[in-house]
Amino acid sequence: MVKKTIFSGIQPSGDLHVGNYIGMIRQSVNLQESGEFSDLIFCVVDLHAITVFQDPKVLREKNLELSALYLAGGIDPNKSKLFIQSENPDHTYLAWIFDCFLNMGQLFRMTQFKEKAQKFIKADNLSSLAEARALFEGPVGLFNYPALMAADILLYDTNVVPVGEDQRQHVELTRDIAEKFNKQFGEIFVLPETRVDRDAARIMSLQNPLSKMSKSDKDPLGTINILNTPDEIREKIKKAVTDSGSEVVFKEDKPAISNLLVIYSRLSGKPVEEIEKQYQGIGYGQFKSDLAEVVVGSLKKIQEKYQVIKKDEGYLNKVLNEGRDFSLEKSSQKIKEIKRLMGLGR
Ligand code: TYM
Repeated sequence: MVKKTIFSGIQPSGDLHVGNYIGMIRQSVNLQESGEFSDLIFCVVDLHAITVFQDPKVLREKNLELSALYLAGGIDPNKSKLFIQSENPDHTYLAWIFDCFLNMGQLFRMTQFKEKAQKFIKADNLSSLAEARALFEGPVGLFNYPALMAADILLYDTNVVPVGEDQRQHVELTRDIAEKFNKQFGEIFVLPETRVDRDAARIMSLQNPLSKMSKSDKDPLGTINILNTPDEIREKIKKAVTDSGSEVVFKEDKPAISNLLVIYSRLSGKPVEEIEKQYQGIGYGQFKSDLAEVVVGSLKKIQEKYQVIKKDEGYLNKVLNEGRDFSLEKSSQKIKEIKRLMGLGR
């Protein structure tokens, strides 16, 4: 087998939702089962999560919850490695090196930073980006977050990064860093490629099909969490907004129904076209109540596995220890080479 590596991560902040599951975990499980990759590395990125305040007790609990959800969602420790980011200090070591290497303008252009920075800018009318920069009063970590993400990816000679659309720009920046570094110090980093599940790269809110489903959504009706109860799921789908008309079709001018169709398709394994045919001449009502059962059924399987794994602390710790040791072994080699190339240490 040609040596090919996958790396991806999820923040243990908030509750894992169907967007994370479809956009990242499900896609990764398909890649895992394709047999195309020799190393598959998945990470609970708790150091990324602390760019905004996290209650220490809750964070530790969430690290384990997310680890168990990765496994319940199909990440198989016999084929993939799973570890917690903060247990491998090489990530922050390399992030510092990238901090000294990246320029601030590049970081200010990151869409996700611009979105997240909003709440730290105490002014109503910003006349320019320069003014926004000057007025940003948030944590530095929120700003240089992509340096840590690039370190995560580049430490492992990653070829493919399975993510949702919102992370594409960060992976592009990672490529830029790798290219620039290779030119300056010698060919050391592999250029990673973004992999998104085309139609499912941006699962949208059930309440606003123009904004993405997000862990930080204030409206709980917009998001289906992986651990929601069947009644909660049914209620959320019943109340999901729809478009005008009554046809169940995937179309640009039907963003709400298109989003529901993608969720149906990815959780049932049926292609979108087949579902469109199935509901020809049948209205939204039946479609939505069937969708609710598809979601309830597929999340039920994950939830049952989750309960078993979560209770088995010995097993979960064994998986996470193995993942940590594997990652340390690989990353320490890489750090050694980087130090040699850069003249760090003796
Ligand atoms: P995070 O924790 O915000 O999201 C985890 C994964 O879920 C995807 N995602 C979505 N996909 C489709 N539709 C949605 N509505 C949706 N919402 C989220 C995200 O794109 C992501 O793939 N910075 C990353 C974590 C990270 C990482 C990495 C990823 C840190 N280091 C290295 C890849 C490689 C983040 O905040 O993801």
